[in-house]
Amino acid sequence: MDSLTASIYDPADLPDAFVKIYGGSKDSVQVFSAPARINIIGEHIDYNGGMVFPAAINRYLYIAIRKRSDTKILYNDIRFPGSYEFDVNDNFVYDKKNDYANYLNGILSQLKSSGHSFGSGFEILMVSNIPAGGGISSSSALECAFAYAVSETFGFNIDRIEIAKLGQMSEHVFMNVNCGIMDQYIIATGKKDTAELLDCAKIEHEYVPLQLGDYRFVVMNTKKQRKLADSKYNERRAQCEQGLAELQAAGLNVPNLCSITPEVFEKNGSAIKDEVIYRRVRHCVTENDRVLRAVAALRADKLEELGQLLYASHNSLRDDYEVTGIELDTLVDVASKQPGCIGARMTGAGFGGCAIALVHKDKAEDFIKNVQAGYSKVVGYEGGFFACSSGDGVREIK
Ligand code: GLA
Repeated sequence: MDSLTASIYDPADLPDAFVKIYGGSKDSVQVFSAPARINIIGEHIDYNGGMVFPAAINRYLYIAIRKRSDTKILYNDIRFPGSYEFDVNDNFVYDKKNDYANYLNGILSQLKSSGHSFGSGFEILMVSNIPAGGGISSSSALECAFAYAVSETFGFNIDRIEIAKLGQMSEHVFMNVNCGIMDQYIIATGKKDTAELLDCAKIEHEYVPLQLGDYRFVVMNTKKQRKLADSKYNERRAQCEQGLAELQAAGLNVPNLCSITPEVFEKNGSAIKDEVIYRRVRHCVTENDRVLRAVAALRADKLEELGQLLYASHNSLRDDYEVTGIELDTLVDVASKQPGCIGARMTGAGFGGCAIALVHKDKAEDFIKNVQAGYSKVVGYEGGFFACSSGDGVREIK
């Protein structure tokens, strides 16, 4: 099982832990939560104007926060080592040795540059039940929980979509990762029992009921240490820009790759001379089409069809976009051979991280046991597994 399954932190304990560190009374402590997400389908197309289909899940990160009477900022985390102290008047810059505090300082720096001012400092204590660096957006959950907590505490009243944009800007400007909007958006706006069809060109969403009958999504964590993931991510993005520029130069009048249908690509794709760029673009075009078909299948209660689209998405990410690797491929391959599994694919950026599988609820336990065995036989160490349900977007919990 996932190592965290054994030690899920109960957020009811957070205010006590908070006053143990900072003193004072629990009454003035506010607690906020932000979920992890899975992306059901629509991978690496949020930054290409595509349609993506993520869902918030019932694994959360929690932040307890209280204003201070001075201008100090104090960060503590229950599980991650390191207490950090800053000041609201600091000029926040990325610093490797600040570890997780960089995600928080990135948000503060965005808030300050968008004109928000802090009359006082504050202190926070965090804890996360989301596997870190595991591809289900632990860092976006941190950004959104923190941005929302600070916004509510200081009365900025920033709306949810702006919270998502703040998180994304912080990744671009502060963390130097050129991510799309999907992760922060679903974490900021997600609703239990739904997934979101998110139009990344318009930055608008539609809730789609996530009715899976007897099936559940199982999250499968490769537990691979991701090293070059960020630079490869930025490289993929640049390749897509190149592909789009070539198609436009050849006369195709489109604003982004995902406004190209498979039929139009068939006719015009040969304008892309480089074979690698061609495959990157083909992934984007076909993936966007799969999203629309997957949502239609879910709405029509055709889960087997949805499952087949998940496999097709994985294959395209493996062969055309090349962001899977032995770990994710093994998880999906072993999963696909298990009774009760009707679909599986990598989720998130790839290069390690997590995959998801759609599994009959009565088979989930055996499924996890068997995939764990098959996975560790190939890669030499264990993965992490848990069945999830949908969750709520960022909010204050009482
Ligand atoms: C990461 C990014 C997202 C998205 C996915 C791939 O999770 O943060 O914006 O691009 O990768 O779909």
